[in-house]
Amino acid sequence: MDDPEQVRARLEETGYLVDEGLAIACFLALRLHRPLFCEGDAGVGKTALATALAEALGAPLIRLQCHEGIDASQALYDWDFPRQLLHLRAAEAAGVKDAERLESELYDRRFLIARPLLRALQTQPAVLLVDEIDRADDEFEAFLLELLSEYSVTIPELGTLRAEAPPVVVLTSNRTREVHDALKRRCLYHWFDHPSFARELAIVRSRLPRVSARLAEQVTALVQALRAADLVKPPGVAETIDWAQALDTLGANEVDAELAVATLGSVLKYREDTDRARGLDLAAVLAARGA
Ligand SMILES: Nc1ncnc2c1ncn2[C@@H]1O[C@H](COP(=O)(O)OP(=O)(O)OP(=O)(O)O)[C@@H](O)[C@H]1O
Ligand SMILES: [Mg+2]
Repeated sequence: MDDPEQVRARLEETGYLVDEGLAIACFLALRLHRPLFCEGDAGVGKTALATALAEALGAPLIRLQCHEGIDASQALYDWDFPRQLLHLRAAEAAGVKDAERLESELYDRRFLIARPLLRALQTQPAVLLVDEIDRADDEFEAFLLELLSEYSVTIPELGTLRAEAPPVVVLTSNRTREVHDALKRRCLYHWFDHPSFARELAIVRSRLPRVSARLAEQVTALVQALRAADLVKPPGVAETIDWAQALDTLGANEVDAELAVATLGSVLKYREDTDRARGLDLAAVLAARGA
C-alpha cells in the first residue's frame, strides 16, 4: 500500500472505516515496521482494526489475549511435556541408554509448542495482535519490549530463532493502567476517540447493510446523546451496532422514545446508566433528527 489513502481504501473494503489520522498511523506502521499502539475506551474498534488490517493484507491474524499473570510459556513457547514423557518411555522400552542423546531428542522442535508470539515470528506475512496489554503485568511488558526490539527469541535448547520479516504488530489497551513509556516509545501511538455522528452512522451502515437507513440514523443519534450524558460506562460503537441489530430483530424500521427505553439493555449495562437514560429527553433527540 503506497500511501495513507490506499490504506484507508483497502480497510474500507473490509468494512472497517478509518479517518485520516488512523490511516496515516497504519500506513506509517506498515512502512516503518513499527508496532501500532491503540488506546481508547471499550468498543471503539481497536481489536477490529487488527482484524481488518490482516484481511486487507491477506495475512493471517495471530492473536495474543493478555491477562493477569500471563507469562512466556503462554505467550511464546512451551514444551509438550506429555509427548516428551511418552518419547522417553518408548526410548527406555527400546533400551536406549545414552542420556545425552535422549536429552537432545527430548528438546527437538517437534516437541515445541509455538504460542502466538513465536508463531508470529515464524509466519510471513502475519499480523500480530497483542490485545489488552494493560491487563498483563510489568514483567510481561518488559519481556514484550525486548521481543519487539529484536523480533527474535532465544530458546536455550534450540538456539536463537529470528523472524525473516517482522510481523505487523497491533497492541491494544483500554487504559485500565498506564503502559510504560519504554514500550510506547517502540510504537506509533493512536488514541481512539468515539466517532463523530457521520462516521458512526457510516460504520453502522457498513456493518448492518440490511438495517433501515432511518433506524441506523436514529440509533446513532441516541447513542451519541447517551455518550454526552455522564454515564458510568459510555457505550462504544459495538453497542450502537448491537442496539440497531436488536431493534431490527424486533422488526422495527424506526424507533420512538418508548421502544428506545424498552431496549436500553442492548446498549447500557449498568443500572445507574439505565436510570440516567430514562431521565433524558430521548424524544427530543429523535425529534432533532426529524422523527
Ligand atoms: N471504524 C470502524 N469501522 C467498522 N467497524 C467498527 C469500527 N469501529 C468499531 N467497529 C465495530 O465495533 C465493534 C467493536 O469493536 P472492537 O471490538 O474492535 O472494540 P475494542 O476497541 O477492541 O473494544 P474493547 O476495548 O472492549 O476490546 C466491532 O464489531 C467492530 O467491527
Ligand atoms: Mg478489543
